[in-house]
Amino acid sequence: MTSAAASHVVCRFSDEVETSIEVLPGQTVLESAIANDLPLMHQCRSGTCGSCMAKVVSGDVEMRSGVATSLLAREQSEGLRLLCVSDAPSDAIIQFDYPSTSSGPVKVNAFVDALDWLASDVAHLKLELAEGQWLDFTPGQFVRLRVPGTNDWRSYSLVSSEQALPKLEFLIRCLPEGKMSEYLRGDAAVDQVLEIEGPFGSFYLRDDMGADHIMIAGGTGVAPMISMLDTMRHKSGRKPKTLLSFGCADESALFFTEELDLRTFWMRTLEVRISLDRIDGDSEYAEGNPVNAIQAGDVNEDTVAYLCGPPPMIDAAFSHLESLGLRSENIRAEQFLSSE
Ligand code: FES
Repeated sequence: MTSAAASHVVCRFSDEVETSIEVLPGQTVLESAIANDLPLMHQCRSGTCGSCMAKVVSGDVEMRSGVATSLLAREQSEGLRLLCVSDAPSDAIIQFDYPSTSSGPVKVNAFVDALDWLASDVAHLKLELAEGQWLDFTPGQFVRLRVPGTNDWRSYSLVSSEQALPKLEFLIRCLPEGKMSEYLRGDAAVDQVLEIEGPFGSFYLRDDMGADHIMIAGGTGVAPMISMLDTMRHKSGRKPKTLLSFGCADESALFFTEELDLRTFWMRTLEVRISLDRIDGDSEYAEGNPVNAIQAGDVNEDTVAYLCGPPPMIDAAFSHLESLGLRSENIRAEQFLSSE
């Protein structure tokens, strides 16, 4: 039975299919969708992963106050909401940027193919899906990996693209006492099985190949950018003019430079700029951060931008790009929030 105070929320998908749900007072929009067997994308249910994002077209959908979420203030002001922490105080229409037919995340197993250390705290984990298993994803999205022998899951963006399937690759920043970090530094070995769940997230390459692209990445935030670049490279047709600005702390923390050189060779419309926070003596790299490496001449009013890194870098990049004339709706961001 539906309460008289329930709100009527229309969920509109990118394939123009619409489904209505009743959201009861005290119930989040996501809880209501699940209760109505509507398979909306979600993962953490706590406002941190960004998977359940939707845009309010009309009416009121309000995020609960006092809940720390991964949504940026400017994204909220543009009408974006995380439905796992949102109420619907009035009737509303919300829009999803994926189709109603989206199959959502799956759980699969994969074998460890290789584990390389690119820097003292950056691991390059290469997996291969178990026979008969498959995982579709869009470049830029992330999956969860279960730490073997525990019930703990950690989220990582894929550095590989769909063209590499059944191979999957990740760049993992290891922290001193992180559980995944302990596994990688200790027990990880070739042929071990890892459980994967995904894909998740609304940070992915959009189909606007006619526009110039700016990518700003801090540390392992370069992973989704490489997945996007490799996908662009494999697409037929014109490649967009793309500038990747990549930053690390210093030369000892820098990694993947040969991989980036290869991408500039493969994709002639790509320029890579590397910035280091600290430089000792002579260096071929610029001292500074990857945000300030972007200058006025690098952008035009149609440029689209992808940002991935820690929250302070994302905030600084938004402000800087907007001050250079980029439209906020053309800026997409993924923040790193450590679960270690
Ligand atoms: S499910 Fe809502 S933010 Fe993760």
